[in-house]
Amino acid sequence: MTIFVIGGTGFIGTRVIPLLVARGESVVCMDINPHTANFSAHGDKVKVVRGDVTQFDDVINQMQASGADRVMNLSYNLGQELPPHIATKLNIVGMDNCFEAARILKIKHTVYASSLAVNGQQKHFGDRPVTEDDLHRGENQYAMHKSFNEWQAKDYVAKYGMTLTGIRPANVTGPDKVRGSVDHVNIVTRPARGEAIEFPFADAMRCPIHVDDIAEVFVRVIMADKPKHQIYSSGGAVVSLGEIADIVRSYLPDAKIIFGKQTGGKESSGNYLIDNSRLVSEFGVQYRPYRERVLQIINAVRAEQGLPAIKG
Ligand SMILES: NC(=O)c1ccc[n+]([C@@H]2O[C@H](COP(=O)([O-])OP(=O)(O)OC[C@H]3O[C@@H](n4cnc5c(N)ncnc54)[C@H](O)[C@@H]3O)[C@@H](O)[C@H]2O)c1
Repeated sequence: MTIFVIGGTGFIGTRVIPLLVARGESVVCMDINPHTANFSAHGDKVKVVRGDVTQFDDVINQMQASGADRVMNLSYNLGQELPPHIATKLNIVGMDNCFEAARILKIKHTVYASSLAVNGQQKHFGDRPVTEDDLHRGENQYAMHKSFNEWQAKDYVAKYGMTLTGIRPANVTGPDKVRGSVDHVNIVTRPARGEAIEFPFADAMRCPIHVDDIAEVFVRVIMADKPKHQIYSSGGAVVSLGEIADIVRSYLPDAKIIFGKQTGGKESSGNYLIDNSRLVSEFGVQYRPYRERVLQIINAVRAEQGLPAIKG
């Protein structure tokens, strides 16, 4: 089987594609930056083509040429820095191009990335886990675009009976994450490089999930013929920046992580209590302990620097 992955040379895609190949699938990856990843170890099981998701002709022509019967869209702008017109082209028109091409080509299953950002701040929900059925409370450009993507996927499903599944990753973390939320990354990678780092609040809450874990989620979901639901939240580890600092210091006792204040960040934290029981019960996912993932990130940085790995 062939899977057409749009935006596959990025942070998550470079973990998803090898997992698909390991399961015996072939991949055609379309990305506007085709050379930022190297899949040569996978021989002819992975083909990378250059294409722009904002151009419908690129999307439908490459999707058709791939002969794929499953599609995954990971292309997006992570952040708020793009002007509205450009962000809309990539996030809204790009996603629609993917859905519409999948409709025309009768793609069996299309999976796209949404985000926990649709939920907005945790304070809107009190101290309870947010489910996929809760009302969206996200307010920024990224959150609004993801909310619209989810609404539009529902519209395609209702009108054409397509199988379109959205995954809402939490705060995806890994040594090479540079776009989107990165404080939960830098708090590990900077001390691992011997650099000091400062944050305003120790009690700011996050919900990190390691990129290897979210890649496995995307793979399990895309391989399903007809998931029971249209949206799945990944969930992750519920942890404050102060607690991450303690984990980092347990491996790197000299880590210089400074907080301006111990409290005051929790109430303005994004959604961090997330009910992922849908995903767990249907797909049997289980994440590695977060502590272990922190060490994995530290050791990835140390390997880059030619330093020996720290033992867990
Ligand atoms: N990383 C996270 O923490 C996180 C959390 C929640 C949701 N997500 C979602 O997961 C998806 C993948 O995230 P990521 O971290 O891998 O992002 P990324 O920025 O690393 O990867 C996105 C890829 O899209 C490609 N791309 C950009 N514009 C394109 C265009 N016009 N045409 C074709 N390709 C284009 C980029 O070259 C890149 O390879 C995104 O939809 C993101 O919103 C990520």
